[in-house]
Amino acid sequence: MTEMSIDQFRLKAEPYYRPVGNEVDLFEAAYARRMPVMLKGPTGCGKSRFVEYMAFKLGRPLITVACNEDMTASDLVGRFLLDKDGTRWQDGPLTTAARIGAICYLDEVVEARQDTTVVIHPLTDYRRCLPLDKKQELLQAHEDFQLVISYNPGYQSLMKDLKPSTKQRFGALAFDYPEAELETEIVAAETGVDKEIAGKLVQIAHRARNLKGHGLDEGISTRLLVYAGQIIAEGVDPVLACKMTLVTPLTDDPDMQETLEAAVATYFFA
Ligand SMILES: Nc1ncnc2c1ncn2[C@@H]1O[C@H](COP(=O)(O)OP(=O)(O)OP(=O)(O)O)[C@@H](O)[C@H]1O
Ligand SMILES: [Mg+2]
Repeated sequence: MTEMSIDQFRLKAEPYYRPVGNEVDLFEAAYARRMPVMLKGPTGCGKSRFVEYMAFKLGRPLITVACNEDMTASDLVGRFLLDKDGTRWQDGPLTTAARIGAICYLDEVVEARQDTTVVIHPLTDYRRCLPLDKKQELLQAHEDFQLVISYNPGYQSLMKDLKPSTKQRFGALAFDYPEAELETEIVAAETGVDKEIAGKLVQIAHRARNLKGHGLDEGISTRLLVYAGQIIAEGVDPVLACKMTLVTPLTDDPDMQETLEAAVATYFFA
């Protein structure tokens, strides 16, 4: 692969990421040993943003793959394609990352079937290789390659857990929604609303997060708070903005919507 095509996977500018603990140092230590890393945490808490930030900070290209249950090993590794001159091998994203020394981020990896997930096994132990069976090539990973996976523990069924032999190939960092002051800072920085408004949005989220398991599958994420701030920053009335971004997306249950709207009403008045 040419330098120019590697450049397409480089982040052009430093992503905004506000560290919440020692995750930056821990990730750097893991990267120094090229240890595979797993990021666990609820939706919209900053996992993807963190990987982008770390790839930029470490000066590595980043290749992200959104995993799903229809994904096959060939989707990750590559396949032969037919074109006018016959067949031509095309690397999949995992293979590309291993060749060019990128960080490969497999997002929501539990969604993939277990027989798909096992293709990462030889890449994530001391062998650091990827057998391209169909091509009869044994690819040795570039020395800068690292594999990162994310998953959201909780809402998947037990059937969809990772195998122990997959899990135990990773160091893991647990993510969660940041504590109030930090989350306020993040929402203000990401949207341009002032700290007072951002702080109220965070308080509303705390109310909703207490309802997790009591009628809500997931609380309001940092991502949704950023959405709320963005709509408010566009000049929309906060009550309407909160309904659009914090209430309606979260639940279809009318009673639960009413509960959430009441929480909004304690902080913002129509
Ligand atoms: N620590 C943080 N610093 C900066 N922004 C953050 C941080 N945490 C969350 N955010 C904001 O929250 C949004 C959602 O984060 P992100 O997309 O990284 O979530 P995620 O954990 O990858 O969620 P999912 O599991 O649904 O993919 C980001 O776009 C960003 O605006
Ligand atoms: Mg993500």
